[in-house]
Amino acid sequence: MVLSLGSCGSQARVLGLGSWESSNFELRTFTFRLRTSAFRFEQQTLRSQVSSLKTQDPRLISYVSGLASSSSLICMPPALSPKIDPVLLKDRFDRQITDLRVSVTDRCNFKCSYCRTPHGVHFAKRESLLTYEEIERLAGIFLDLGVTKIRLTGGEPLLRRNLERLVGKLSALKGLEDLALTTNGFNFYDRANRFKNAGLTRVTISLDSLRQDRFREITGYADYDDVLRSIETAKELKLDPVKVNCVLIRGVNDDEITDFARFASDWDLEVRFIEFMPIDEEEKWTRERVVTGSEILQTLKPEFDLTPVAREDASETAQKFEISGGAGRIGLILPVSEPFCGNCSRVRLTADGKIRTCLFSLVEYDVRDRMRAGATDEELKKFLISTVLKKEEGHRIGESDFVPPSRSMSYIGG
Ligand code: 5AD
Ligand code: SF4
Repeated sequence: MVLSLGSCGSQARVLGLGSWESSNFELRTFTFRLRTSAFRFEQQTLRSQVSSLKTQDPRLISYVSGLASSSSLICMPPALSPKIDPVLLKDRFDRQITDLRVSVTDRCNFKCSYCRTPHGVHFAKRESLLTYEEIERLAGIFLDLGVTKIRLTGGEPLLRRNLERLVGKLSALKGLEDLALTTNGFNFYDRANRFKNAGLTRVTISLDSLRQDRFREITGYADYDDVLRSIETAKELKLDPVKVNCVLIRGVNDDEITDFARFASDWDLEVRFIEFMPIDEEEKWTRERVVTGSEILQTLKPEFDLTPVAREDASETAQKFEISGGAGRIGLILPVSEPFCGNCSRVRLTADGKIRTCLFSLVEYDVRDRMRAGATDEELKKFLISTVLKKEEGHRIGESDFVPPSRSMSYIGG
């Protein structure tokens, strides 16, 4: 949990005390740092504010005092008076959560250079993963709280045995409008029919190069033809709109922008260029390696006539363009140069049952153990509502105090 300290006149306030009490000192596992945000606390000020904490709980006082005297502390802007809606998941910034990303495994059979390290990794033990029944139960609770879209991710979700069974369970839940899957496409073609029959509505497949050799190099020798076959099958089965994710990295694949736009047009699908984010295992990210949206548009301009498409809803991550005179679309996902946090509607559930309120969260909230300890649906609902109230205002990529999350995308799920 994030221990939020806010200023209220001359008083320091501790927000989230309730969850602190029930969180069993999960705090100690997190990185604390002084975070300047809407409210800037100098350590000295903080120490004096801590002395006027309005709490009688000696454990909390001693804990917060300890934090204040350490050199690192997360300091969030206070929720002045968060309105808690008992039927909806809304955060302190009035963003409603409608989109749940569920990672079903932290394993992946590709080793994309911008994501995984080729060296040894520690995967979650089987018993630590949420079962399909547990995911189904949590998804039902999220849907009761206003979520309408679920995306299954990984790692590589197709590595989880009989994923079709989970798709069948989720698609039967009341209130679900959209059930999508993000996959690297390694054997989707083989199972696409079963996914479609189980109720999958659409699929996003990652493809970072249209050149076989380069594709193999980026992915650690994955099979290019398999991925193309998966894209083709998704098109045939009308898992529309079929989307292809392409992470652009300067010096790696930024010479393929026009090829990808042509691919989108020829195959009548949506290619989404994603800016490289500092969420890679090997920490190879640098700002210079990010190919920005404006560069992409400049590159495409001479060859393509692009017409902007209105967003279907404000929380959509991609800016979309129709390719005039042909089929297909391109999308720009620009988390670095044009962050879209202000309209974020997402929370993530990791394979081992932790809630992440932001892709870049430094904290996770354990829902699995609560569930396994016998929490009722009502108790879980309350827990989810209070967790969402701690959702970060936004990522801080590019700020001097940015800290990359300790898990890469393949553990969190895109
Ligand atoms: N930056 C941007 N996108 C990434 N992905 C994985 N790691 C990164 C990163 N560091 C993408 C994958 C996949 C999607 C889920 O996230 O390529 O398409
Ligand atoms: Fe590549 Fe996705 Fe696997 Fe990461 S999780 S290695 S991005 S296929």
